Amino acid sequence: MRPTQASFPATRLRRVRQSPSIRKMVSENVITVNDLIWPVFVRSGEKIEEPIPSMPGVMRRSVDKVVEAAREAADLGIPAICIFPYTSIEERTTDCVGAWNPENHANRAIRAVKTAVPEIVIMTDVALDTYNINGHDGFVENGKIINDLTSEALVKMALAQADAGSDIIGPSDMMDGRIGAIRSALENSKHQDVMILSYAAKYASGFYGPFRDAVGASDALTGDKKTYQMDPANSDEAIRLVERDLTEGADMVMVKPGMPYLDICRRVKDTFGAPTFAYQVSGEYAMITAASQNGWIEHDKVMMESLMAFKRAGCDGILTYFAPAVARFLNNL
Ligand code: PBG
Repeated sequence: MRPTQASFPATRLRRVRQSPSIRKMVSENVITVNDLIWPVFVRSGEKIEEPIPSMPGVMRRSVDKVVEAAREAADLGIPAICIFPYTSIEERTTDCVGAWNPENHANRAIRAVKTAVPEIVIMTDVALDTYNINGHDGFVENGKIINDLTSEALVKMALAQADAGSDIIGPSDMMDGRIGAIRSALENSKHQDVMILSYAAKYASGFYGPFRDAVGASDALTGDKKTYQMDPANSDEAIRLVERDLTEGADMVMVKPGMPYLDICRRVKDTFGAPTFAYQVSGEYAMITAASQNGWIEHDKVMMESLMAFKRAGCDGILTYFAPAVARFLNNL
């Protein structure tokens, strides 16, 4: 029970807000570079940094430029990056074989970053959407997403990433049973130290729009992802999904999108006490960036406030496209 507090004027709650130093003393949460995971997009070619129109300031980079970006991130103190491939429509197929090709853009980037920037943690995305002709995270047959067959493909994809040197496998596909399948495949192939950060509570969200531009999936995608991603109306279901993924061998869990789902972050953290991450997704980034470019909000202020909200909601860290900007802000650069 909460102890009763004295009434006014014995209690004047403004007392502890009267100066910057007092406010620092009583502040309950803090955001540091340690909380950041930076998603980066990798594409074909060399010496390429291609802007993504719907995500101002975010680039698709060729492998050499991803390495430079990883170096910069490590120098800023950012502990981890998350690699996403951009694939053109010509690189996509119905059987998604590109997903477990050791030479795909993501796997080449993993190996290059591991060699050049060994201290940075590498997280990778497991889902078929970036290799699938129709933009879905799983195989499609007669208009339906085929769960178990997809899961087998995701295992191959995860193993190829682990072989390339990924430290954290991030299944973002929302198929049933894939965490257990990936975990046992990792165990059986001497990758027992490779971690899984499950996109456990991932909602079918309109906030992913700019990301689908970034990875080349916008034109490819037919229909929606509602048979596998969650209904924004649900909260108890998120708890069941997180519990399921933890019992199947996930080391860490994620809630996605971020800011519209802070209630889910808090419930997940309070219920399980597991390392909990939020993904501040592309649409959230785009909204803050666009409004600040219009002069309607202050960029740095809103960026930092948005990240503090995740800490307050119980998150241990945040995947955010703002990561380098936040690190520079915190380092006064
Ligand atoms: C696909 C995937 C998506 C994101 C990360 N992995 C999009 C989707 O599910 O359609 C979204 C990230 C963002 O919007 O920033 N498996």
